[in-house]
Amino acid sequence: MFHENTSADCLTTVTTSTEDGAFQTKGRNTRLLSPEEAERLAKDRVLVSDFKQLKLEKEAQKNWDLFYKRNSTNFFKDRHWTTREFQELKACREFADQKLTILEAGCGVGNCLFPLLEEDLNIFAYACDFSPRAVEYVKKNALYSTERCKVFQCDLTKDDLLENIPADSVDVVTLIFVLSAIHPDKMHLVLKNIYKILKPGKCVLFRDYGLYDHAMLRFKSGSKLGENFYVRQDGTRSYFFTTGDCQMFVYFICLLFLLLFMGGCLLDRQDFMELLLLYKLHVYSIMQQEQKFLNLLDFIQICCINEKEQSSVKVQ
Ligand SMILES: C[S@@+](CC[C@H](N)C(=O)[O-])C[C@H]1O[C@@H](n2cnc3c(N)ncnc32)[C@H](O)[C@@H]1O
Repeated sequence: MFHENTSADCLTTVTTSTEDGAFQTKGRNTRLLSPEEAERLAKDRVLVSDFKQLKLEKEAQKNWDLFYKRNSTNFFKDRHWTTREFQELKACREFADQKLTILEAGCGVGNCLFPLLEEDLNIFAYACDFSPRAVEYVKKNALYSTERCKVFQCDLTKDDLLENIPADSVDVVTLIFVLSAIHPDKMHLVLKNIYKILKPGKCVLFRDYGLYDHAMLRFKSGSKLGENFYVRQDGTRSYFFTTGDCQMFVYFICLLFLLLFMGGCLLDRQDFMELLLLYKLHVYSIMQQEQKFLNLLDFIQICCINEKEQSSVKVQ
């Protein structure tokens, strides 16, 4: 069982603006541990075996699908807080009745999607989840209409969102209690994927479990997969975010935009590579405590290579 009436969660808005690099984090403060809780967490050091961890990763989609088979649409409560907590949904409009296009990434059975469509009549929503059952439940919901939404099955870490959504066409992407369900080594793939369909200057709204949430403290020993990462009895997994993680997302998305922006030959190659290196070092200094920064650096490396390949075509 897991609960989402969280005492500590991370609430982050990333605005992909290349002009002012603006972003906000509205993260709650990390919950303070009692001495007993701190001792219990410190003692819980044994990790689930590599073999079992690999199996869990391979079967992630199956385990979530079975979760929806068992619980149908009855598990998560409808989330009526999105417009209240994410003022950006209103603020990102240039005029009051402007139609917004959103993507609810990892939509589950639509507990966030449908309240949002009811509250705001000027939204077209794409929604996706990798559980086929969850997608079917969304389609069967009385509020589902193809005029207002398009739901599709998609593994955000593997399947290209461009197969279902045009490039640079979405105003707001919501990631609500979704990244926590994804292996920390693969979270950057999700960001890379959503970046392709997001309009420049628009928003990623992220809400998820924060470090030392009660849900984290309820895990029994034998459930730990890694730093702040646990498995539930049903095989679904949950990561608990630190504020450093949220900063990493912000830097990662800013970096992607930097690449796009600078790749347009605003700088010469030398300057571009130097700037990239500076950025890389900056990300490194923030994230050096984190295992995940290695993936980020790998990705930056890949971007550099692609950028170089591109430059041989584009630049005289
Ligand atoms: C805790 S639920 C949250 C569902 C929904 N966002 C909500 O707020 O009710 C996490 C969801 O993420 C989905 N998910 C996990 N990994 C995914 C992936 N790699 N690609 C797409 N969806 C994924 C699961 O199927 C599940 O529906």
